[in-house]
Amino acid sequence: MSLVVIGGGALVMKLEAVPIVHGIAEGPKEVEEWFKKMSHAKQKVTKLHFYFHNLLGGKNPTAATVARANITSPTFFGLLNMMDYPLTVEPALSSTLVGRAQGLYGTASLEEICDLMAMNFVFKEGEYNGSSLAVLGHNPIMNQYRELAVVGGSGVFRLARGVVTLNTYFFNPSAGNATVEVNVIVSHY
Ligand SMILES: *[C@@H]1O[C@H](CO)[C@@H](O)[C@H](O)[C@H]1NC(C)=O
Ligand SMILES: *[C@@H]1O[C@H](CO)[C@@H](O)[C@H](O)[C@H]1NC(C)=O
Ligand SMILES: *[C@@H]1O[C@H](CO)[C@@H](O)[C@H](O)[C@H]1NC(C)=O
Repeated sequence: MSLVVIGGGALVMKLEAVPIVHGIAEGPKEVEEWFKKMSHAKQKVTKLHFYFHNLLGGKNPTAATVARANITSPTFFGLLNMMDYPLTVEPALSSTLVGRAQGLYGTASLEEICDLMAMNFVFKEGEYNGSSLAVLGHNPIMNQYRELAVVGGSGVFRLARGVVTLNTYFFNPSAGNATVEVNVIVSHY
């Protein structure tokens, strides 16, 4: 995962004998304390770049169809899939794993092939290990760039807001697999 921090001003918390997981104090009291101090903290901007892998077929699928509408639709409307995508630093599935994209996507348009996506990017590397971003949005998969919203986050990404840009790197509809390039820009505290 490549990382560029644009703004400075990380929130520094005083932590004494409170349980800390992944560098973030996580009990309800600690969250409340963090929340109160947050109003004095400067926002910072973080950019992330990685790839996710949608494998509907094969030996190790990363997505599965969980429901399907009983209608005939040229846009496959009403097809719901659940996924747990590996997030890798390079387009190759075998490259370094930095996290997972866990959630669901379903075809939500009667007029074009278009997904509604609701997922969490769950990070497993370095300073982001254990933190997550909640992503929701409109994914017209046939377009080159698709823009989704970062609606929140946890850990170092508490109260994050931002934009995810998806760009299809590889797509084989008959094999049921795709590699998608992901750029994330978020502001958080
Ligand atoms: C699907 O729809 C058809 C036509 O309305 C109906 O006959 C059939 O029983 C439905 N199948 C299921 C599994 O609901
Ligand atoms: C991430 O955190 C988990 C749980 O604390 C730990 O087991 C794992 O080794 C960490 N991974 C990395 C790459 O730091
Ligand atoms: C995706 O499908 C293509 C074509 O069948 C295949 O060559 C490739 O290995 C597949 N990728 C993965 C990661 O399964």
